Amino acid sequence: MSKHPFKSSIAVIGLGYVGLPLAIEFSKFYKVVAFDISLKKIISLRKGIDDNLVIKKKDFKKKNILFTNDSKVLQQSNIFIICVPTPIYSNFKPNLSYIVKATRTVGKFLKKGDIVIYESTVFPGCTEDICNPILEKVSKLKINKDYILGYSPERINPGDKKKKLSRITKIISASTRSGLIKIYDIYSKVIKAKIYKAQSIKVAEASKILENVQRSINISLINEVSVIFKKMEINSKDVLNAAKTKWNFMDYRPGLVGGHCIAVDPYYLAYKAKKLGVSSKLILSGQKINEKMPKLISDKVKKILNSKNLNSNKILILGVTFKENCPDLRQSKVISIIKNLSNKKNKIFIYDPWTKKKFLKKVLNKNNKFINKFDPRYKFDIIIIAVNHSIFKKMGIKKIRNLLKKDGYLYDVKNIFHQKYSNETL
Ligand SMILES: NC(=O)c1ccc[n+]([C@@H]2O[C@H](COP(=O)([O-])OP(=O)(O)OC[C@H]3O[C@@H](n4cnc5c(N)ncnc54)[C@H](O)[C@@H]3O)[C@@H](O)[C@H]2O)c1
Repeated sequence: MSKHPFKSSIAVIGLGYVGLPLAIEFSKFYKVVAFDISLKKIISLRKGIDDNLVIKKKDFKKKNILFTNDSKVLQQSNIFIICVPTPIYSNFKPNLSYIVKATRTVGKFLKKGDIVIYESTVFPGCTEDICNPILEKVSKLKINKDYILGYSPERINPGDKKKKLSRITKIISASTRSGLIKIYDIYSKVIKAKIYKAQSIKVAEASKILENVQRSINISLINEVSVIFKKMEINSKDVLNAAKTKWNFMDYRPGLVGGHCIAVDPYYLAYKAKKLGVSSKLILSGQKINEKMPKLISDKVKKILNSKNLNSNKILILGVTFKENCPDLRQSKVISIIKNLSNKKNKIFIYDPWTKKKFLKKVLNKNNKFINKFDPRYKFDIIIIAVNHSIFKKMGIKKIRNLLKKDGYLYDVKNIFHQKYSNETL
């Protein structure tokens, strides 16, 4: 490992699931400016509160880190790491507005000898062909002559305590060979796992997209076959358990695909492919299958409720976040289920200790209630275990079934309890 050449600070731009853990890790070794446009976020972080529940209060202490929403502080920094969102618009096209805005901000403070690294997930070519021209224009500097450009995709998995940032192999890439060595040095302080030097920025960008495209397609395949098996009255969990005894069978499970990565990133690649006149049929049909799953679940629930023919239905939804053990609600397909089931007749109760009522304003109304505890007087016509939170497993199937009316129906979407306890699974 070569000696670290920088005395000055690292600026992390965007302090969400990706940026905050990175800023905290870097602050153990460098002076860090942690910049976010959200003042509300900065106020919380200064108090040592991470709303994403990734960083604990004690981990904020004694760190060489300045939380700010004042971009002028970025003047102090020589290394800029951009971790802002890259979502999609409702027409599935990439929304690059955050990355463009963050690039302009960095461009204003870019100096000779600086390094700009992107960690946001983008389609191949975005860093060099879209972001870099903005950097050059705003800073009036030249790439490689005046500053180095880098791309390092993030692979953290919020909610997964085992896969910590420092323990995950990190891919890095840069616009020059010497830049790659500098970027290697920067990350080698915080990454204890392997650091993989990609051949180019485009290779690094493409590798991240491919990881998520592969996951999306594999899950969509299992979602599709689970629907087929259900028609055949075969339990898909039993099939998967049998099939995975083969050495090269990949163990994917059916489920709801939401969140900021798998539900979104394939559209980035499909967008770029379309621009180049190349088809991405398989990628898009995988997305379509996954997106149909909430409707499939809510249609089934509607059918069951219709067959009961009650004046009003009490539905309990356990879990509303897009994945287990994480408060992230972005692109949560449970929210789609709630919306599909929302009508005057259905009283929907949502229980999820990983999130708060204030984050669910869009789905809560007088018929949809967020609850923190169970009222013993309430019994439900149907319970949907929508998310695989460990807390539900800890509650146990007995306690959950006790919340049902006598002829109540349990839909254990992810099949987290044994199939014999539920009426329906995917
Ligand atoms: N969440 C994950 O698990 C994960 C994993 C790998 C990669 N990624 C990718 O990393 C990127 C960031 O994702 P995230 O989940 O951390 O997002 P996030 O929404 O949790 O955080 C992004 C932060 O950036 C801030 N921000 C937006 N525009 C800004 C600007 N112009 N200047 C400064 N701050 C700005 C927002 O206020 C927010 O706090 C995305 O491209 C995402 O696809 C996310």
